[in-house]
Amino acid sequence: MATPLISQVSIIFSLCISDLVSEKLRYSIPEEMERGTFVGNVAEDLGLKVWELSSRKLLLISDYPKQFIEINVENGFLFVNERIDREQLCSKTAACSLFFQITLADALEVYPVEVEILDVNDNSPVFSKKEFNLQISELNALGARFLLESARDLDVGTNTINIYQISPNEHFGIKMQTRRGGSKNAELVLKRSLDREQQSIFTLVLTAIDGGIPQRSGTARININVIDANDNAPVFDHETYRASALENIANGSLVLRVHATDIDEGTNAEVTYSFTHHVNQNIRDLFKLDPVTGEIRVQGVIDFEETNVYEFDILAVNSAPPELSAHATVTIDVIDTNDNCPNLQVTVLSSAVQEDAASGVSIALISVTDRDSGEYGEVQCQIPDSIPFKIEKYLKGSYKLITNGFLDHEITPLYNISVSAWDGGFPPLSISKSIVVSVTDVNDNAPIFTQSSYNVYLMENNTPGASIFAVSANDADLNQNAEISYSILDDQKHEIPSSVYITINSKTGNIYALRSFDYEQQKHFHVAIQAQDAGSPPLSSTALVNVIILDQNDNAPIIVSPLTWNTSATVEILPKATYPGYLVTKVLASDEDSGQNARLSYQLLEATDPGLFTVGHLSGEIRTTRAFSDQDISTERLVLRVKDNGQPSLSTTVAIYFTVITNVTEKSFEQIDKPRRLEYFSDVNSYLIIILGSISFLFLMLIVCLLILKCRQDRNIAEDYSPTVCCYGQGNSDDGLNRPTGRHPLSYSGAVQTETYHYSVCLSPESSKSDFLFLKPCHPTLPFNEMGVHDNNATN
Ligand SMILES: *[C@@H]1O[C@H](CO)[C@@H](O)[C@H](O)[C@H]1NC(C)=O
Ligand SMILES: *[C@@H]1O[C@H](CO)[C@@H](O)[C@H](O)[C@H]1NC(C)=O
Repeated sequence: MATPLISQVSIIFSLCISDLVSEKLRYSIPEEMERGTFVGNVAEDLGLKVWELSSRKLLLISDYPKQFIEINVENGFLFVNERIDREQLCSKTAACSLFFQITLADALEVYPVEVEILDVNDNSPVFSKKEFNLQISELNALGARFLLESARDLDVGTNTINIYQISPNEHFGIKMQTRRGGSKNAELVLKRSLDREQQSIFTLVLTAIDGGIPQRSGTARININVIDANDNAPVFDHETYRASALENIANGSLVLRVHATDIDEGTNAEVTYSFTHHVNQNIRDLFKLDPVTGEIRVQGVIDFEETNVYEFDILAVNSAPPELSAHATVTIDVIDTNDNCPNLQVTVLSSAVQEDAASGVSIALISVTDRDSGEYGEVQCQIPDSIPFKIEKYLKGSYKLITNGFLDHEITPLYNISVSAWDGGFPPLSISKSIVVSVTDVNDNAPIFTQSSYNVYLMENNTPGASIFAVSANDADLNQNAEISYSILDDQKHEIPSSVYITINSKTGNIYALRSFDYEQQKHFHVAIQAQDAGSPPLSSTALVNVIILDQNDNAPIIVSPLTWNTSATVEILPKATYPGYLVTKVLASDEDSGQNARLSYQLLEATDPGLFTVGHLSGEIRTTRAFSDQDISTERLVLRVKDNGQPSLSTTVAIYFTVITNVTEKSFEQIDKPRRLEYFSDVNSYLIIILGSISFLFLMLIVCLLILKCRQDRNIAEDYSPTVCCYGQGNSDDGLNRPTGRHPLSYSGAVQTETYHYSVCLSPESSKSDFLFLKPCHPTLPFNEMGVHDNNATN
């Protein structure tokens, strides 16, 4: 189909050319014609007849290595002998022609022939590579242009590349540029800004289309790699981080890990963590933020009591410039642990309390605190139950230590009260302190005598002023409250004050006899002794001292009968009455002592005629051994000794003269009858009568005495008479007083009073013995003689 068309065109061309240029033949054919395609009729164009052709020998002369065009010598037609590729023949030259000559061999004529080869769109645009890679930074501004690889089209003219196209996309467009030579190239234009983080790779197809008919095209893939720019700041996973940590957690413990993400790439995404500038040093010291891992670890001691929550800001910075950062807030709650001992504060109000203090006296204020919080900080406080104190809560954490019960200095003088406090932790922490409270003595104990009564046995005829006994009392109190002074309590019921007999050393309790006692006069007496302490008010107690005076053999026997005069007696006897065994007389003796000291025995010491009389050893009866004879002398003398049984024994001797009456008169009988009458009494009876008689007499006397004394007393009290009691250190030998031998005088005046007597006791300046006491004069102006008192028989 194509061939007839082209032939037609060629014929037109040929005709034109042959008309205008006679010497040069011009033809044109499209390239790529098939072999044998008609190019031109040379014979006709040269004006040759067909028949003369064979004879004139047409010849085509060409320099080309290939014989693209041949001539048919029969008819003079030029035809395509070899495929003609314009691109091969002429490359990019727009006008492409084949030049050769045709000769006529006979005439030697040469006719140049030019066969123009017309371009046919037989080549597609071709890219040098199937794929192109392009690196484009995401930061490029809109309108940025990137030169693209051009495609090549071997064709020329309109058959070359006319247009570039790119596969549809949002970001890129194509801009064409025509160079001076007419060739075109394309640029990629950024229509919309890139974000690597959204799309980092674009794959586009670039199509180059030529202008031929039909169009031909070639494609290449363009891989666009969006290069990262540090356009994204790191972003923390959370805006705030919250974590908790136990206080006192071990060093290096992980508390929290923060994390920030940077969606950039590579170094742009390398995040380092740090504290913000205004995080204070304290927090930097306590926590360590790992710049790489974002771990927050403890590197100090965190103390709930110091800070219970830590809050600080941290930064995440990426490392590429510009360094973009993000911040987050970290809150670390510190969890309390029971790490604080309770604190016990004791304010002692009074470290001493009187033993008679009532319950409820405040001793100390106790305050307990605990730095821990919650139940760890709830402190309880206690003291032992067994003591007379208790604690009372009056405010939260404040207690009062008060007395609660009976205190006794004598039982417990000092309380060491241990106050303990513990908190509510598990296990609880505790603390204890001791409060020392001393119980001060109050005079609540009276002195107590070692015995409630004392029996003192005292030998009569004791030395006046000598110590006879010592009482002692104890006081459980302290110091002054236990300072005992002894005194004699005069019993009002007794008419004679005890102080007449004895005195007592108020300090030592030594009791001294003031006089020498006589058993025969007084067998016992009792004295009330008071012991009094020096407390305020003083307390006292009394004890009774019974002084029992012991008998001493100080009385010799006394002959009671027969009547003696100057240790001799005369007894008359009747001669006719004398027969053996006749009771001449009975010697009666008495002894004022008692007991063995009064047990008498009789002994014959001498006799004129030793064989005449016998004496009853115990009875004292003198009897004759034989009848009297005339030879016997008229007067017999017997010396008799009466001896008591004391140790040593005392004795009395008596000489008895016996007279035998020869001429009996009435008077004589009477005299003789006396001993006879005596015979009628038994020994005992006679004694009884004597004793009874004397006792009655004494009793009567006593009553009389008492009556007199009573009268005097009444008068004295009415006159407000103060007894004057004195003693003298220096004795006066002219006073004629009976004094104890070997001692200085101890005189005392005892006006018989019911009042208690007060004696001042002083030591004799001459005496080195402390137990010898003298009464001090209370009325020194009174002359000694006027006292007139030297015996306990008070002379009024
Ligand atoms: C009280 O008791 C505590 C402990 O039991 C002791 O350390 C302290 O010395 C005592 N105080 C006195 C005065 O005894
Ligand atoms: C007592 O008797 C003695 C001798 O036995 C005699 O020396 C003395 O003078 C007598 N005394 C009186 C007062 O008679």
